[in-house]
Amino acid sequence: MRRPWVIGVSGASGTPYPAAVLNALLDAGEAVDLVVSRAARLTILDETGRPFRDAHWKDDLGAWLGRDLVDADVTYWPAGDLAAGPSSGSYPVKGMVVVPASTAACAGIAIGLSKDLLQRAAEVNLKERRPVVVVPRETPVTRSHLEHLIALHDAGAVVLPASPGFYGAGASATAAQLVDFVAGKILDALGVPHTLFRRWSGELNAERS
Ligand SMILES: Cc1cc2nc3c(=O)[nH]c(=O)nc-3n(C[C@H](O)[C@H](O)[C@H](O)COP(=O)(O)O)c2cc1C
Repeated sequence: MRRPWVIGVSGASGTPYPAAVLNALLDAGEAVDLVVSRAARLTILDETGRPFRDAHWKDDLGAWLGRDLVDADVTYWPAGDLAAGPSSGSYPVKGMVVVPASTAACAGIAIGLSKDLLQRAAEVNLKERRPVVVVPRETPVTRSHLEHLIALHDAGAVVLPASPGFYGAGASATAAQLVDFVAGKILDALGVPHTLFRRWSGELNAERS
């Protein structure tokens, strides 16, 4: 039976993060169900210069990810489709990642608002006790943002801020390496093998050279 990961892209800055996660999951042969919020269309347009359209999702996703999707196992569900597969707990999925997670998405999921398919699918995966990874991207944060993250943590989500470490690639790390660090931590949380970053070996970079 097909059991995809649901990837929810909400309207926070950081569109390279979902691109790296989607590419890594597809490279690992995982199936993906994709949901892109209305606001995420603005961040995708702003940060990539490309539109993301329901009617042309495969072309737009392929251009965004820089890959041919012919052999990729990707299903796309419009965010307004509240009857879509991932809106139900009986639809078989492995779990869900919300990347990046806007403060609005964090709040909506934390209080069970289900204002769109992204929020509903996240709530469904929490109630089904499946892995849910939420990747907030906002700084600084208010008390209310923090309270929503605590509520998500208490409901079983892994709260994984888009907060790259520099110890793998060093202080001259490229933006792509920093993005891959966060994407790799997300795949670690899902238990999907990857080679997105060099793991800590117990040796400082200076000792290695
Ligand atoms: C270009 C752009 C960048 C944004 N960046 C962020 C951000 O980094 N973090 C955040 O929480 N919201 C950000 N927002 C605001 C969200 O898009 C807004 O709160 C929206 O309602 C989120 O809706 P969604 O959770 O349904 O995607 C940004 C909006 C725009 C247009």
